[in-house]
Amino acid sequence: MSEQRGFTLWFTGLSGAGKTALAKLVEQELRARHLRVERLDGDIVRQSLTRDLGFSKEDRDANIERVTFVAKLLTRNGVAVLCSFISPYRARRAKSRQEIGEFIEVFVECPVEECARRDVKGLYEKAFAGEIPNFTGVSDPYEEPDNAEIVIHTAEETPEESLDRVIAYLEEQGYIPSKT
Ligand code: ADX
Repeated sequence: MSEQRGFTLWFTGLSGAGKTALAKLVEQELRARHLRVERLDGDIVRQSLTRDLGFSKEDRDANIERVTFVAKLLTRNGVAVLCSFISPYRARRAKSRQEIGEFIEVFVECPVEECARRDVKGLYEKAFAGEIPNFTGVSDPYEEPDNAEIVIHTAEETPEESLDRVIAYLEEQGYIPSKT
């Protein structure tokens, strides 16, 4: 078997857009193909590596800076890295792209109204009530990517369709072997 090629899939989008769900599906599929995978997720990383950080622009950028450092090390050692972070700032994502190199930006797009309707964690209700300051999409900015390799519209496609599109991209670009 040929050597596994390292890359980072970077899932960016609003809270509740479906970044984690899609990253988990991709993780499952890559593992089924016997590839080495690590998933780094905002909700988990913020309990350990970046637990000292909040949600100001400086703290969000620091969060992404540290995660990028880890993703870079894994990527250069041939791991498929799946990062799911709101990562709202375009300039910071561009730096991550530059540092990691083998970087595939996946814009997980979903209208804020739909994220709020889903409100999986109950955070939008609080944010709209003014109980959570600086909440992305409500009282804090989200800068949409203008050069994402993959754009997923979670309000319009099924998770399986999104998964297929991500996997097809990885195969087409030669990041993973095609299934024969
Ligand atoms: S990022 O902006 O630094 O990339 P990250 O993805 O790590 O954010 O964490 C986002 C998660 O933190 C959200 O899914 C949500 O559960 C929680 N959260 C708590 N406060 C906020 C807030 N003010 N804005 C956005 N998300 C928040």
